[in-house]
Amino acid sequence: MPRSIVAGIGMYVPKNVYTNQDLTRYMETSDEWIQERTGIQARHYADRLGETTATMGIEAAKIAIERAGITPQEIDFIIFATLSPDYYFPGCGVIVQREMKMKEIGALDIRNQCSGFLYAISVADQFIKSGMYKNILVIGSEKHSFGLDFTTRGRNISVIFGDGAGAVVLQPTAEEGRGILSTHLHSDGESAEILAMYNPGTHGNRWGHFADFNDAEIGEAFMSEAMIEKAQNFPNMNGPAVFKKAVVKFPEVIMEGLQANGLQTSDINMLIVHQANLRISQMIQKLLRLSDDKVYNNIQRYGNTTAASVPIALCEAWQEGKIKKGDLVCLAAFGSGFTWASALIRW
Ligand code: COA
Repeated sequence: MPRSIVAGIGMYVPKNVYTNQDLTRYMETSDEWIQERTGIQARHYADRLGETTATMGIEAAKIAIERAGITPQEIDFIIFATLSPDYYFPGCGVIVQREMKMKEIGALDIRNQCSGFLYAISVADQFIKSGMYKNILVIGSEKHSFGLDFTTRGRNISVIFGDGAGAVVLQPTAEEGRGILSTHLHSDGESAEILAMYNPGTHGNRWGHFADFNDAEIGEAFMSEAMIEKAQNFPNMNGPAVFKKAVVKFPEVIMEGLQANGLQTSDINMLIVHQANLRISQMIQKLLRLSDDKVYNNIQRYGNTTAASVPIALCEAWQEGKIKKGDLVCLAAFGSGFTWASALIRW
């Protein structure tokens, strides 16, 4: 069975940079609070008009495809991970297919939020191992800025997230030992609502999370005026609860990957975890006893870009020469769902 290698990788971040100080124009917050709690100094926001989750994904994809030495017409399958699609439906994959003038290939959208990219490369890996496809384009992209509450009410969430995209082309390799060694996927829906955007949705309060709404307001529409008035059109997060679960599940799923391959933490050459919070990344690094040169973080400059965060960090680390052929690269993610995942790649 062939293994999958990353044949090409690319990233794109919009040009508009918003520092923590810039955010103080819209809400009560401070550079000190944001840096101390999250490590974030700045994030990029897409142009409000014209730049979308799909267009950013396409920019990253163009670079990944060129670096793989192929053309868009040679891509056999698209997997697009995002929580902020251009449309509620259809997904962004078909927009990529159309805009990049690809053949009438399959296009799959993945909705696994922060672990979306890891789920996406796991799915792609299975298609490659089975021999079904040879060139799979995997994109993680987010335009968070369109849907955050930039008032003080939403400050615990809005300061964290940023926009951007990353992409890889996965191909089979005949080279012994190289490629994706294994992927490990998990979920626990018990806490589905503590990091979620409820609307627009079909829930009809079935899960009982709208105590302050009456049935008429909830049944009124997919997204009613009452919901907008009560800020139910924005993401909702219990930050401390997410933090506590993340610092347990990240090391667990990394160790699962290492054990499945008979490897140890000391074998890791580069660890890239989903950029949720610098404090979370630092706790994982400490637990795994990894030196600074074996961990790559860029949340300071981009914030949390959800499905895009792992491919953006992977791309930057590779561009900076921090990942070389033969290195053991460990990717891991945790987020809304909860879902979490890891992947080990012999580069
Ligand atoms: N600026 C200033 N103050 C803020 C603020 C902001 N942007 N956001 C929240 N606060 C305030 C709160 O209102 C609260 O005030 P109070 O004590 O007067 O009630 C105080 O800061 C502490 O809030 P809390 O939510 O307990 O802070 P925290 O230390 O847990 O930090 C997060 C908040 C969100 C940074 C942190 O919980 C976190 O990073 N969690 C993980 C989130 C995550 O990774 N999400 C993505 C998952 S993939």
